[in-house]
Amino acid sequence: MDPVPKSPIPCHVGIIMDGNGRWAKQRGLPRIEGHRRGVETVRTVTRAARELGIRYLTLYAFSVENWKRPQDEVGGLMSLLDYFLKRETATLVRDKVRLLTIGRTAEMPENIRNLLAKSCKATESFTDLTLTLALNYGARTEMLDAAASYARAVAGSATGTPPPTWEEFRRHLYTGDIPDPDLIIRSSGEMRVSNFLLLQAAYAEFVFTPTLWPDFSKADLESALADYAGRERRFGLTSEQLGPWKPAKA
Ligand code: FPP
Repeated sequence: MDPVPKSPIPCHVGIIMDGNGRWAKQRGLPRIEGHRRGVETVRTVTRAARELGIRYLTLYAFSVENWKRPQDEVGGLMSLLDYFLKRETATLVRDKVRLLTIGRTAEMPENIRNLLAKSCKATESFTDLTLTLALNYGARTEMLDAAASYARAVAGSATGTPPPTWEEFRRHLYTGDIPDPDLIIRSSGEMRVSNFLLLQAAYAEFVFTPTLWPDFSKADLESALADYAGRERRFGLTSEQLGPWKPAKA
């Protein structure tokens, strides 16, 4: 893989979908209404990502910390996920979008696990766009799981085995089979990473937008891409060592 991407279109975009609660509060609605509108934005943005030539879209849908929210909100989010998976799988198949998940999904409710298994299976052959839902995800738990997975892989190896290269170790992350994010977007004006893809984002560009997630549109995504296209990604090199952006490869 070329260490310095040459395309002005990010191959992999991660999104921290924030601001559902505030959107609802501004309208005097219960928080779950904000999440409900947020699901509609997930559909809009997935379609837009495909149209714009993004190959990987990773959405932070439920963090390991989110279980501590009020139980009715957690239950509401699970119902929305259930609804999304039941309603959207046919659309994902029609649009040739592969669905993946990252996170400790084995701890998700059984109905969600079953629906995820079905949707992932139904879409596993598609390659145009990979939509990854981060569910019961946290970067620190991911690191612990990767370390345990690596330890299992090398158990029994001769003592004095040299430490892994990053390329060897990264295979044990939940994202072992997909490229690192080029661009991470966070909606709602907050400027935090909130335990999202911490290792994978080592060289990602960040765009923070004040738009609340339920209001996030294709135009907001295009604006983030325009911002990204204007950045010089150096990966520790100097400007002079880098060539100019080349047109996106088909
Ligand atoms: C953050 O907004 C958002 C979440 C914790 C959940 C995101 C979930 C969705 C968009 C819906 C479910 C997704 C799928 C794929 C079906 P917040 O509640 O923290 O907003 P606030 O900071 O304004 O309170």
